[in-house]
Amino acid sequence: MHFSKLLAFYMSAASIHAAAQSLSPGEGIILAIDSVTFLSQNNLERAQNLTEENALEVGGEIVQGFGAIVKTVTGALSNVTILKSSEQPRDSINGGSILRARQLPSPIPSVDQHAICNSFRTFILIHQQLLSIVIGEKGILSATPFTAPLGTVLRSLEGVVDTFAFAVIALVPGCSAHATQLNAYLAPTLSEAADTYP
Ligand SMILES: *[C@@H]1O[C@H](CO)[C@@H](O)[C@H](O)[C@H]1NC(C)=O
Ligand SMILES: *[C@@H]1O[C@H](CO)[C@@H](O)[C@H](O)[C@H]1NC(C)=O
Repeated sequence: MHFSKLLAFYMSAASIHAAAQSLSPGEGIILAIDSVTFLSQNNLERAQNLTEENALEVGGEIVQGFGAIVKTVTGALSNVTILKSSEQPRDSINGGSILRARQLPSPIPSVDQHAICNSFRTFILIHQQLLSIVIGEKGILSATPFTAPLGTVLRSLEGVVDTFAFAVIALVPGCSAHATQLNAYLAPTLSEAADTYP
């Protein structure tokens, strides 16, 4: 009988907590995803410029671009993980004596979850395009000294993007099926790209 009152209390406590931060959790996640997408878009443009003639210059820039992406995904992952753990008090309330815990809404409002999934979709599509070009340019890139560094950075990217994707998916139950599908579309391309440059 006190359940709904109790729930309302915890919900408003959580809203105050979120409002006290400069960004809502949803906005923080979108910013993290978009900052990676921005770098990937830059690297995509570099990769589109690649020719046999400029391969020694542009190949090196592409490797550096991937290095920056890996670094930013790593930062984005820790930000998303922090946001997740800052919501932990509500999880422990849920895990306590309130039996319908699993039916409580996500700490992130549904509208924000959908905005996160939109960002995530762009993130996936840009990576997919970038990696497809890098795979397709094997002929040019394998003839440069960047083959090994490219393989190394692509293997790092594969590991960190996978972890990041699952961290994001865990926060968006409202659209996690779609996000999971998107990630399943990218994952084999990441592996293929890494395998292209042993
Ligand atoms: C992570 O959070 C820090 C501190 O709020 C911010 O400066 C940085 O840009 C964020 N990084 C990403 C990738 O979102
Ligand atoms: C791609 O090439 C064009 C034309 O040479 C150049 O203006 C542009 O800056 C290049 N883009 C990148 C990202 O290197």
